[in-house]
Amino acid sequence: ETFVITIDGPAASGKSSVSRLVAQRLGIPYVSSGLLYRAATYLAQTSGEALDDEGALLQLLDRHRVQLVTAVGARNRIAVDGRTLDHELHTDRVDAGVSVVARHPGVRAWVDARLRELTGAFVVEGRDMGTQVFPHAAAKFYLSAPPEVRAARRVGERAGDLEAVTAALRRRDQLDAVQSRPAPEAVYLDTRDLTLDEVVARILGALPE
Ligand code: C5P
Repeated sequence: ETFVITIDGPAASGKSSVSRLVAQRLGIPYVSSGLLYRAATYLAQTSGEALDDEGALLQLLDRHRVQLVTAVGARNRIAVDGRTLDHELHTDRVDAGVSVVARHPGVRAWVDARLRELTGAFVVEGRDMGTQVFPHAAAKFYLSAPPEVRAARRVGERAGDLEAVTAALRRRDQLDAVQSRPAPEAVYLDTRDLTLDEVVARILGALPE
């Protein structure tokens, strides 16, 4: 028996913070699907594989053991061949390459298979969790905010120039449009004028009994 809550939305929409807090309040783990795409990208970049060579990427993923480590109230982590990766997955270099890697159907199938291995209750965030991976989720949410607002939040997290970060986010939005499919039945939350706690409260308030 699984109980899944999906939270989808564009880059820097606050998905991971929101998902972590919602999961923490419910006492269940949260899962970031983006981390799996980031791990695949990191592996490809550090092995010198071309990001547009799907066959080479799939062979690479086959040769390495990629584990998603989830815990209640904690950040998600990925272990590659037993080594935990964290900040390595959140660099501008990975950001710039990940949309290309995520476009390959074989890579998406690899990520989806990792996610479908999970059992029990959890909150999962990404782009297509409510549509593609967990169509029967108990509750679905879609978070959004204008690019400038998301960029300002991202600059607060990582150093960077606001204009450059806004441009990079718009670019990733465009590239990700192919793989972002908000579920029509998802509860849509524009987080522009909402604090993190307010978003969390709305989600908790909209959950089925
Ligand atoms: O959510 P996050 O920004 O960490 O995701 C990194 C990238 O992984 C996205 O820009 C997107 O290209 C890809 N992704 C995806 N489908 C998902 C989650 C992430 O294509 N469900």
